[in-house]
Amino acid sequence: MSNEVLVFGATGQQGGSVAAALLQAGWRVRALVRNPGSKQALALRDAGVTVVKGDFADADAMRLAMQGVYGVFSVQPSSGQGAELGLSDEDEERFGIAIADMAVHSGVKHLIYSSTAAVSSGPTGMGHFDSKLRIENHVRTLPITATVVRPAAFMEMLLMPGFGLDQGEFNFFMRSDQPMQFIAVQDIGAIVAAVLADPLRFGGTTFEIASAAATGDDLQALFSQAAGRPITYSRFSDQVLAGNDFLRRLAELLDAGALAGRADLGALRQIHPGLQTFESWIKGPARYSFEKALGTPGAWAYGTADKN
Ligand SMILES: NC(=O)c1ccc[n+]([C@@H]2O[C@H](COP(=O)([O-])OP(=O)(O)OC[C@H]3O[C@@H](n4cnc5c(N)ncnc54)[C@H](OP(=O)(O)O)[C@@H]3O)[C@@H](O)[C@H]2O)c1
Repeated sequence: MSNEVLVFGATGQQGGSVAAALLQAGWRVRALVRNPGSKQALALRDAGVTVVKGDFADADAMRLAMQGVYGVFSVQPSSGQGAELGLSDEDEERFGIAIADMAVHSGVKHLIYSSTAAVSSGPTGMGHFDSKLRIENHVRTLPITATVVRPAAFMEMLLMPGFGLDQGEFNFFMRSDQPMQFIAVQDIGAIVAAVLADPLRFGGTTFEIASAAATGDDLQALFSQAAGRPITYSRFSDQVLAGNDFLRRLAELLDAGALAGRADLGALRQIHPGLQTFESWIKGPARYSFEKALGTPGAWAYGTADKN
């Protein structure tokens, strides 16, 4: 049987983490990329990944890429990443469903679909979350061994420009005492590698994945300690939330309990003993990005209303 896995999005965060973890675990990795000459694609090739050219919209290339692989890791970008991607929620859903259907027709043995923890309580009313729930629901009807992982918000998202770190502040969704789960992108790959290694245990399951939880106060302590100077945490002000529909709806979902995350961190640590804590993450994989965020001014990308 083939020991090769086709990884979508391998030039991006989740797929990159999965490709690296699978290589480390001894799998052969194939990656479908739009531009095999890009810096990220060349780095994948140098790491030992078989890079093939394709696009979610090119069914023939996708089918060819899937031939003979044991497993498929499926992730799609979403409209929630910004309007400049030019991707609608319908596109995301169509691509996610097409990949799952092709995996069945290509005889793939194990399909891993990466969704979002936001849909664990059901539909959210936000397009880029609910698209994933519809893909999940489709995957669960298919005659294939499939696992749906639902990542929490990425720790890496905390270091995007516009949250105030360059000004000695940090503004985000949680209240000071409200916990929210996050996942270090590196852990996504390690967990997916563990899932692929044990289809009998993980086939047919859907579960949230996260690394750790933090309140606003926890992030204030973490960032202040790491920066060596005070970083004051505040929830986005009512004025900011009133002026930005996207942020307001996310804050409402958090308050309603839908975004706080319910991953079983103890069970995940057994699956992947190296699960990051916020402390290990900020000293390790995030050290460079954190230093950069401290010196990078910027505005939150969702400057206008409703880009979900
Ligand atoms: N940020 C969070 O906190 C969070 C939490 C849970 C879930 N999510 C979900 O995670 C997903 C994004 O994952 P990510 O952050 O890993 O994405 P990413 O870093 O933005 O990477 C996107 C990947 O998709 C590839 N891609 C884009 N368009 C493509 C196309 N038409 N055909 C083939 N490949 C294409 C890109 O490749 P090239 O550009 O190189 O071609 C890249 O490898 C979104 O659906 C988001 O909702 C995010």
